[in-house]
Amino acid sequence: MLELLRPFYPIFFAALQGNPEGAHNSVIKILERIWKQRDKYWAKWLIGELENNFCGDYPLLRQRLWGLDFPNPLGLAPGFDKNAQAAGMWKSFGFGFAELGAVTFHIQPGNPPPRMFRLPKDKALLNRMGANNDGAAAIASRLQETWREKERRIPIGINLCKSKITPNREAKEDILASFRLLKPWADYFVVNVSSPNTPGLRELQRGEELESILGALQEENRGEKPILVKIAPDLDKQAIREVIKVARKHQLAGIVATNTTTSREGLKTRILPATGKPIEEEAGGISGLPLQKRSTEIIAYIYQETGGEIPIVGVGGIFDASSAWEKITAGATLVQFYTGWVYQGPWVVPSILGGLSQKVRENGFNHLGEAVGCRSAELLAKQ
Ligand SMILES: Cc1cc2nc3c(=O)[nH]c(=O)nc-3n(C[C@H](O)[C@H](O)[C@H](O)COP(=O)(O)O)c2cc1C
Repeated sequence: MLELLRPFYPIFFAALQGNPEGAHNSVIKILERIWKQRDKYWAKWLIGELENNFCGDYPLLRQRLWGLDFPNPLGLAPGFDKNAQAAGMWKSFGFGFAELGAVTFHIQPGNPPPRMFRLPKDKALLNRMGANNDGAAAIASRLQETWREKERRIPIGINLCKSKITPNREAKEDILASFRLLKPWADYFVVNVSSPNTPGLRELQRGEELESILGALQEENRGEKPILVKIAPDLDKQAIREVIKVARKHQLAGIVATNTTTSREGLKTRILPATGKPIEEEAGGISGLPLQKRSTEIIAYIYQETGGEIPIVGVGGIFDASSAWEKITAGATLVQFYTGWVYQGPWVVPSILGGLSQKVRENGFNHLGEAVGCRSAELLAKQ
């Protein structure tokens, strides 16, 4: 039945061009409702329909990492389900894992709207949401309720961010407090020090600051949950090496590369139609196609620098199997997307996973894991 809707998705997407955040919130509310009513006949039927359309078995793509089983390597990137309202639903869209948040200790309204814009000429989004979320305590109790009778069906991560009202010197305590509340309700955690929309946050990517946050988190964690760090695509090589050093020292489970970019280079959109202002004057981070090459380069760089020792989650501009394959062969063990999913609709998940399985076979590998990083040196040489 859902297949019949597929040709209409571009029309639906274009019709909502003027209010992307409103469209997004409506989708989240509908999914939350379905999840809450999952015992009702209509919701069961709908979940079944979603699974028939979007879920498949991809034996060549299964990954086991950090003691967790990923049925496939394609995840929903954070920012989509900021308040964990639809946490139980992401498996039904075929994702191999999902990352919720960003969650902050304090409740945050985020920046004033409009704060999410589509740049269709660039296949990109510009967002300056500002980590709007219900706060760690509310999200922890929502997740407790979500997993009440059913265990998590796919690995679930939580993206942790410093609260805006907390000064950088107290970032450690702030993030630690969120982690304590949320620890039982997710399988892995990502420290987000790379969003461009919380003032001063990216400064926490520097060695000393990062060291103090991650050191404290790992002490509290006692090796129980995998903890990763997410970096910006705008870091230079020296800064990336510093992150790697801290990641090694504190035995992080991995590095997520990358968040959105503050660069406006190469954009076809000159004026943001919603505000009439030049794109350079608009605050926020760009995601989607303009980020694709840069994030892949960073993945290849980290892979080469670490000799593949630190798992990488690759994110930025994935739209199809080829762009996902690029990230995997550059060095990513898992990948995530947000913009590509929004632009193309949920049918793109099985299409990417089918395409990836084919690429594994065509390239003579027995399993996706064998392809991780196989082109990293070549990609770096091209830079
Ligand atoms: C509207 C929006 C909100 C986002 N919020 C977060 C966030 O809260 N935390 C985070 O780490 N990344 C956030 N991101 C970044 C995405 O997780 C991802 O790193 C980035 O969009 C690149 O992937 P993509 O090109 O597939 O969208 C957000 C992205 C968008 C578009």
